[in-house]
Amino acid sequence: MSVVTSMDPPTEPQTWHYGVVARWWAEFNTSGPEIAYFQTYVEAGQPALDLACGTGNHAIPLARRGYEVAGLDLSRPMLAHARRKARAARLSIPFVHGDMRRFDLGRPFDAAICAFGAFGYLLTDADVLRCLRSVHRHLTSDGLFTFEFWQRSGMHPPPYQSWFHRSGREYELVRLSESRPSRRPERLSIEFRFFVFKGSRVLDRFNEIHTVRTYAIDEMRALLRRGGFDFLHGFEATRKEKRFRPVRKESFRVMAVARPRAQS
Ligand SMILES: C[S@@+](CC[C@H](N)C(=O)[O-])C[C@H]1O[C@@H](n2cnc3c(N)ncnc32)[C@H](O)[C@@H]1O
Repeated sequence: MSVVTSMDPPTEPQTWHYGVVARWWAEFNTSGPEIAYFQTYVEAGQPALDLACGTGNHAIPLARRGYEVAGLDLSRPMLAHARRKARAARLSIPFVHGDMRRFDLGRPFDAAICAFGAFGYLLTDADVLRCLRSVHRHLTSDGLFTFEFWQRSGMHPPPYQSWFHRSGREYELVRLSESRPSRRPERLSIEFRFFVFKGSRVLDRFNEIHTVRTYAIDEMRALLRRGGFDFLHGFEATRKEKRFRPVRKESFRVMAVARPRAQS
């Protein structure tokens, strides 16, 4: 396990989803409310690409519903869990190792999704634009890109603390989180402290600092435009609910829907 001690934003892609965290993600973060939400878009157009697909929490349930899905992620351990879960479900899903900032899958898709704030790991305009242009190259002209992002005005002012506890088959996990002030207003740094238990024994403990990017809606609209997309809709979401409700100032999670603009 690695302990990240620097508060400087990473310049390299973050591949923190490994080891116990990848296992935890595979075991506890299974299908959620976003499946029905994404299904609306995948149904309208498929094949669909799940960007930063992690352990296949969306690709697998969507494939189970009969949709043609492919997944792409930077973390090999997360992909290994995704492949294992797909095999167990007797589903054939291409899970590809790649960086969402530059990828070439050599085929078009009618829908692309990017769930659970993974888009927030793109910290700079340049990386966001690289990603949008890669997605653009893979989408058909009437395809849709739907993804989740963090709205700055809905952020709890740091330091904000939260925690969760999950019991799995082999271990229990406690995660304490604390957001920290960042030198750059658009970035949110969160320190996670993980404790892994079995019975009364602590099997492991480690800390990680994750830095994600937050947006104002107009900023996202402008970046989408530069990346070749029109921002069609933004909907308010929570961890538990993905519905078609208008975004408010207090909304932290926003589900965005964007359509590629024709290249001039
Ligand atoms: C919070 S997890 C979400 C996983 C999945 N979308 C879900 O909802 O279960 C973030 C994922 O983004 C992936 N990721 C981060 N940066 C990436 C990049 N530049 N390219 C591809 N995947 C990336 C991580 O490896 C991780 O699997």
